[in-house]
Amino acid sequence: MELFDKIIDRSNTYSIKWEKYKSSDILPMWVADMDFKSPQPIIDALQKRVSHGIFGYTIMDQDTINSVKNFIKNNYNWDIKSEWIVWNGCGVVSSMNVVSKITKGDDILINTPIYPHFKKAPQNASKNIVEVPMVEKENRWTIDFNMFEKKITKECKLFMFCNPYNPGGTVFRRDELEKLSKICLKYDITICSDEIHADLILNPNASHIPIASLSEQIANKTITLLAPSKTFNIAGLQSSLAIIPNRDLRREFQKEMKDICCGVNLLAIEATRVAYESCEEWLEKLRLYLKENLELVQNFVNQNKSLKLLNQDATFLAWIDVSKLKLNDPYEYFLNYGVGLSSGEPFGDKNFLRLNFGTQRSRLKEALKRMENAIDAREKELS
Ligand SMILES: Cc1ncc(COP(=O)(O)O)c(C=O)c1O
Repeated sequence: MELFDKIIDRSNTYSIKWEKYKSSDILPMWVADMDFKSPQPIIDALQKRVSHGIFGYTIMDQDTINSVKNFIKNNYNWDIKSEWIVWNGCGVVSSMNVVSKITKGDDILINTPIYPHFKKAPQNASKNIVEVPMVEKENRWTIDFNMFEKKITKECKLFMFCNPYNPGGTVFRRDELEKLSKICLKYDITICSDEIHADLILNPNASHIPIASLSEQIANKTITLLAPSKTFNIAGLQSSLAIIPNRDLRREFQKEMKDICCGVNLLAIEATRVAYESCEEWLEKLRLYLKENLELVQNFVNQNKSLKLLNQDATFLAWIDVSKLKLNDPYEYFLNYGVGLSSGEPFGDKNFLRLNFGTQRSRLKEALKRMENAIDAREKELS
């Protein structure tokens, strides 16, 4: 049996995803974690660490730092220095909040629709959001660079970038990243690049390029946020890192997070080291499995003229346009047919739904069948 086909019961494990619809027949296809077991080397390393039995205050070790550096070098051809890394055991979202607080300007640029914390973080820091809507071009979501430049105000000193893009799955190409960096350098804008989905590129013709790897100049203006959580399905362990080559920026970031954010906990340190060191083979298989799941979703959408999904290169999240169904509340509508999707509303467009296909294929097929029933019923109503 295919490694990722095995159904694993997640009930009674306090999973956010599964607790939400606990006592109902609703399939949870929402929050971004996967229903797969983490790679065996991670499970073994955690068991070994737990059996030691002493869990005192722990520091980050050089072996774990080296495992991240090697992984980034091997996968993205980016050489980073140990001292550039700032670990954050409170996760990428808290780093987004830290960055929003330290920016000097009152306005923060973001693309929309977007993972909701891109809006929440600036709001928490009492900053204004300058929205640059994503546009559809050559059947993928991308940035209109002229519009991006026109939207920049005097108060914009930060662009919060999501690459690969959640929810639309875009992996930005080198030429696009170069355009972005050129504009940001011209207006002296720091980039906070959330690259948490970097390792989940499903399109073999796309590859992830960390924007900071383009040049020393842009590295100096960039905070790159990474984590092993999505890639190796260890979100509950809370491990993340910010890569900040610029010493002054790094100090400001560290000063702001000090005493508020925590270090990476000792189990997460073990998991992080082993994840980056020994799980490439597992990851390769995962990407193939997710790619086939994405194809299933894409075929499903293609057969339903009421739905639309642009090409996506990455992530296990599909951003589906359901506007043709003319529903008041698309999320509630599909819920009534037994599928718990993410509502597009907090991302910025209520006519979309986000489907998490990081699950066993049999479950995905069942969810799509239920969606089909929902769509058929609505199309009948509309005709
Ligand atoms: C783009 C993006 N950033 C950050 C996060 C959350 O990261 P963390 O759990 O480390 O706070 C997610 C989770 O879905 C995400 O999609």
